Amino acid sequence: LIVDASEGSGRKIPDTMFGVFFEEINHAGAGGLWAELVSNRGFEAGGSNTPSKIDPWAIIGDPSSVTLSTDLTSRFERNMVALRVEVRCDSRALNNVCPAGGVGFFNPGYWGMNIEQGKAYRLVAYVRSSGPVDVTVSLTGPNGFPSLAASRIILNASDAENWTRIELLMEAGLSGRNSRLQFTTEKPGVLWFDQVSLMPLETYKGHGFHPKLAAMLEPLKPRFLRFPGGCYVEGTWLRNAFRWKATVGPWEERPGHLNDVWNYWTDDGLGYFEFLQLAEDLGALPIWVFNSGMSHREHIHVASIFPFVQEALDGIEFARGDPASEWGSLRAAMGHPEPFELRHVAVGNEDCWVPNYRDVYLKFYHAIKLAYPDIRIISNCDGSAWDLDHPADYYDFHIYETATNMFSMGDHFAKAPRTGPKAFVSEYAVTGRDGRTGTLLAALGEAAFLISLEKNSDVVEMASYAPLFVNANDRSWNPDAIVFNSSHIYGTPSYYMQQFFRESGGATLLPATLVKSSVSGSIAASAITWRDPVDSTEYLKLKVQVQISSPKNNNNNNNLIVLRNCFHRL
Ligand code: AHR
Repeated sequence: LIVDASEGSGRKIPDTMFGVFFEEINHAGAGGLWAELVSNRGFEAGGSNTPSKIDPWAIIGDPSSVTLSTDLTSRFERNMVALRVEVRCDSRALNNVCPAGGVGFFNPGYWGMNIEQGKAYRLVAYVRSSGPVDVTVSLTGPNGFPSLAASRIILNASDAENWTRIELLMEAGLSGRNSRLQFTTEKPGVLWFDQVSLMPLETYKGHGFHPKLAAMLEPLKPRFLRFPGGCYVEGTWLRNAFRWKATVGPWEERPGHLNDVWNYWTDDGLGYFEFLQLAEDLGALPIWVFNSGMSHREHIHVASIFPFVQEALDGIEFARGDPASEWGSLRAAMGHPEPFELRHVAVGNEDCWVPNYRDVYLKFYHAIKLAYPDIRIISNCDGSAWDLDHPADYYDFHIYETATNMFSMGDHFAKAPRTGPKAFVSEYAVTGRDGRTGTLLAALGEAAFLISLEKNSDVVEMASYAPLFVNANDRSWNPDAIVFNSSHIYGTPSYYMQQFFRESGGATLLPATLVKSSVSGSIAASAITWRDPVDSTEYLKLKVQVQISSPKNNNNNNNLIVLRNCFHRL
């Protein structure tokens, strides 16, 4: 490989080149990146009517001694469902004697809570009762024992008549990775509970993110964070789409919503504000994908699109408006008076196939450019094969392929128009038999693809792998970059592959020519150089990948791909 490192020979790769894409899929956020341990904390998983769905909450004791139901007596207007707990204990015995240890109810979290000895957990719950309250709150093993931490909620009858906010710090004396949160009492009566939250005291940068899952993102040095989806943005039905206004403000007041594409309830603890905060915490630019008035089954007509346009404008104002503005003031009230660095928005996700997308898109485009001329707008329509028929700063490009096809994608952007909007490859991955739940072959195919993106970074400005996280208990989509359960985390080869590219953003791409090859097969290679901002050391990195076809069987799935990654201090 001959690399021309002479003065002025290279071309700068855009600063934003490699980032991450977070979607609420596979319980990536609820039961994952968002550190909330209680699942269905507001008892609203069945929606805003009663009876609601209270899963995974369940009773402790005999069904004749305690019953759980839901009613609409919450003190929170946007999520009126509360849990009603009727404690009878043994109604045949004198004074309704309760069994030792009492009866009650528990929440197992998302496939078991990981409680760690010596760590503190903050419990918040809203409680009301028909009489005095004496409830034991404990963190226990999966069957109610052993006890890992315990505390008590005691209220006299007059205090308990109205909703009382309880906040307790619980320190774990023991560890358990399949633990549960339980409430028990030996006092017959009726109790109501609402908005029950259990969070570890220690979260990533103190902002509510799972410390270890969020820390997995740091070695990728993401330059941007695209969120919150994906199909999650659209919903199967619009009523279940991610609509940012329902996800901001105090967490207790958020209604939550059914993620009806990936089939689970989310309490929206991880809302629009938190995504912006995460981007800031990672030193990444936020890229907000908003709903364009389209779900998988419905499309709002262009004549009725104005409320969605206004919602997008309000969302931008929330992110970066003056703290005195209507939505900027809500951001300030949430603890972030300074604007977030929102510079990019995407009008929908994978909606270009909808016949009225262009008409609707133009309404968003012109309204946003008028109010925020500097915001860069991403169209869902692919502009890599021919020029777009509408104005845009970027076009979105998604690709899920076999390893061989991914390897060969290098040519695709070499043929893309050199003028007009830039490409944002916001979702790429090797999938199917080559990718399974994460393989080295997939990572190698993807690395060759990223090499081709570096070389075509005059037209491709951003790229992110998809999906980012999977909770191993809910594998809706395979493969993914980071796999976890309540207590364990690992990166797939595709996760580590991305680390090879973390210096590329802002680096100089040098002309590199392959002069002699001792192997037959395709080769992908690139050379970059960059200066460390801290100590000014200059580095050169060569990435070379060879795709060797098995001579016996030329079947695409039997190819071997080799990656050499050389890294030199100059
Ligand atoms: O990344 C998984 C899904 O693939 C995304 O939700 C969607 O945008 C794409 O079809």
